[in-house]
Amino acid sequence: MNWPVHGSNPQYLYKAMGLPLPQEYVDFSANINPLGPPSVLKENWPHFYDKLMVYPDPNSLKLKTFISEKEKLPAESLLIGNGGSELIHLVSRWLTGKTVLIVQPTFSEYESACRANQCEIRYFSLTGPEFKWEMNKFRESLAGVDALFFCNPNNPTGIHYSQELVLEIIKVCNEEQCVVILDEAFYDFVVEYESMLPYIHHYPNLMILRSMTKMFSIPGLRLGYLTASAKVVRELLPLQPHWSVNTIALLAGEICLGDHDFILNTQEFIAMERNRLFDFFQHHRFLVTNSTVNFYLFKDPTVKNQYEMFEFLVKNAIIPRHTFNFPGLEGNWLRFAIKSREENTKLMEVLARWRTSHPLYSSAVE
Ligand SMILES: Cc1ncc(COP(=O)(O)O)c(C=O)c1O
Repeated sequence: MNWPVHGSNPQYLYKAMGLPLPQEYVDFSANINPLGPPSVLKENWPHFYDKLMVYPDPNSLKLKTFISEKEKLPAESLLIGNGGSELIHLVSRWLTGKTVLIVQPTFSEYESACRANQCEIRYFSLTGPEFKWEMNKFRESLAGVDALFFCNPNNPTGIHYSQELVLEIIKVCNEEQCVVILDEAFYDFVVEYESMLPYIHHYPNLMILRSMTKMFSIPGLRLGYLTASAKVVRELLPLQPHWSVNTIALLAGEICLGDHDFILNTQEFIAMERNRLFDFFQHHRFLVTNSTVNFYLFKDPTVKNQYEMFEFLVKNAIIPRHTFNFPGLEGNWLRFAIKSREENTKLMEVLARWRTSHPLYSSAVE
């Protein structure tokens, strides 16, 4: 089967499965904030029209200054990108021909970008259902490695590793002269996240990537940033196309990052919906990962092959993210985004119907 490599754009999934795209469906395959973009962005939208006639600032100075003050980082340590994806591709180009260790399962773009730049790819695998980090095994796998790609909180598991552990990983990599590319695309969904940004000052081997398309629900606009030592940023800058980040995205970035209440409201909403969903899953004996963010891995432990359930959901206009292209998962889990209350309820209704036709054992489900 020719599975689509990412979530969203469900027409490709239905095509791969040889099914007609229903008129109405609920797409759980993209991990975007279900509350939509902050309302302040909509209020400002009409003012953006006139800016279309202006070339974007190729140095993104205004947004860089804003982030630099907010995060207490020197502006020279920042690089603004056309979404986290562009930054991943820039870093991979900077790593051309190097040996790269990727913590799996994870976002597939690290591997495809590194492959496009002739890197040698190795995996450090975390295994489910807990996806625990084994430090001794990790130390061994670092031999001869130039760079590590690690996503925290991790996509697709939704699991968030502690600041203590991440710090140890960075230290160990520093001793081995291995660059750490820490992707924090989903950090702002975690309540009271302990930022790793201050460690940029202490560890020249550390790079942190952040996407703004997830929390602020602007995947169509594209925006993200990277922080690293000023030296590394100077080396990355010439690899980025001029005017890569558009004028509207630069303006939207300041507005979004300034709306702290929106982030807090999102965190509260996601936590509430996650609890509601997870109570239901526990009651019906479905298995989920210990997610702290806006998506989670899911499976029905009563069936050996999750594909039957996946197909059932897709035929019922519920679109999960398949996991066939996540090394270590190979379709044995499904990933769901947390959506609006109504949409999450719809998911539970369809899963309740699935459970009725696939009872665990008669006493398990009251
Ligand atoms: C872990 C991770 N990093 C980065 C990205 C890229 O996001 P964007 O390019 O929309 O900022 C994604 C998108 O799904 C992701 O899951």
